[in-house]
Amino acid sequence: MPTALVTGITGQDGSYLAELLLAKGYKVIGVARRSSTVTSERIMHLLDDITIVQGDLHDQGSLLSFLEEYNPDEVYNLAAQSFVPTSWNQPALTGDVTALGVTRLLEAIRFVNPKIKMYQASSSEMFGKVVEVPQTEATPFYPRSPYGVAKVYGHWITVNYRESFNIFAVSGILFNHESPRRGLEFVTRKISDGVAKIKLGLSKDLHLGNLEARRDWGFAGDYVQAMWLMMQQDHPDNYVVGTGETHSVREFCEIAFGYVGLDYKDHVVKDDRFFRPAEVDLLVSDPSKAHSQLGWKPSMKFPDLVKMMVDSDLAHYKGEKAITPRRVYG
Ligand code: NAP
Ligand code: GDD
Repeated sequence: MPTALVTGITGQDGSYLAELLLAKGYKVIGVARRSSTVTSERIMHLLDDITIVQGDLHDQGSLLSFLEEYNPDEVYNLAAQSFVPTSWNQPALTGDVTALGVTRLLEAIRFVNPKIKMYQASSSEMFGKVVEVPQTEATPFYPRSPYGVAKVYGHWITVNYRESFNIFAVSGILFNHESPRRGLEFVTRKISDGVAKIKLGLSKDLHLGNLEARRDWGFAGDYVQAMWLMMQQDHPDNYVVGTGETHSVREFCEIAFGYVGLDYKDHVVKDDRFFRPAEVDLLVSDPSKAHSQLGWKPSMKFPDLVKMMVDSDLAHYKGEKAITPRRVYG
């Protein structure tokens, strides 16, 4: 039974990846940081099947100790300060976790067992003010946020440890991927949640920022498969993962509100608070390499993703989905 260790297990991707790895017969070790409140909602249904260890990308000792204890075959580094606006409020913290945290994990692998494979969660946010359309593995980076800058560092340190120390370290440059488990602060979930509340009479308006921003949005459940496939290749490499389609925030609103018989123009309020100091206007992937080398293809089309998220939030507010918080560790 192979062992996989996942940082960021409590996040959106961590929960889908844990499900995938368990289905493939892995022993799964999830790294969660100490919190005064419950952060395990997304993995509640998996807690009997995975082992949770305490650790933090700030803390080199914690990384060394869990690698020594479990000596995993594969490490998936999904942990990050991942919300772009927060990265302007807390740029140093974002750099410490999202950039230097990658070095700490690679160093721990180098010291404990350089044969451990590592996946680094890189991001299309690195392309920022894009210099070519669509974006490939060869497209130069032009990050537009402290988060994007930190991810560029994380990407290059991953490549560097691959080249310097022969560590099997892969970088998955993933475009935006969403799901009913997406954090409420990200625009897709903010919209699906807002639509559900407005439809059920719990709210009237939805305050949003830039409706013209375009993203290449896919389903998170598909993207964790690409992560696993990258780790099964003969050689470590960099891969762009996306749908190859781009849609605006406005289109997301049109479909989401339209799906429940509402017009977004009656409810969406433009709010300066949600505009960013520097915007990423357009992202669209060229996922040809992932198609040809990994045999990976997305399964869900954009309108179906939007509708799935709205359905899930409607069910939540109708009380059809019970959330029973429980502590991860005592
Ligand atoms: P997410 O839902 O925000 O999850 C982030 C995870 O990182 C959470 O489990 C969080 O723990 C953990 N974390 C934050 N700071 C940490 C620290 N100092 N030490 C240990 N763990 C820490 O993000 P996601 O959407 O699943 O994304 C997973 C990864 O892929 C992230 O690195 C993200 O930047 C990257 N990425 C995401 C996308 C996307 O569209 N989703 C696209 C490209 C790249 P808590 O639960 O305790 O907060
Ligand atoms: N969050 C948010 N809230 N975004 C808004 C809003 C709003 O009210 N109104 C408009 N937007 C626009 C943002 O300006 C941005 O252009 C777009 O919606 C998407 O914002 P997010 O959903 O917050 O995602 P992101 O693209 O900034 O970052 C996500 O994708 C990256 C990959 O490209 C995150 O998951 C990152 O961690 C990830 O790396």
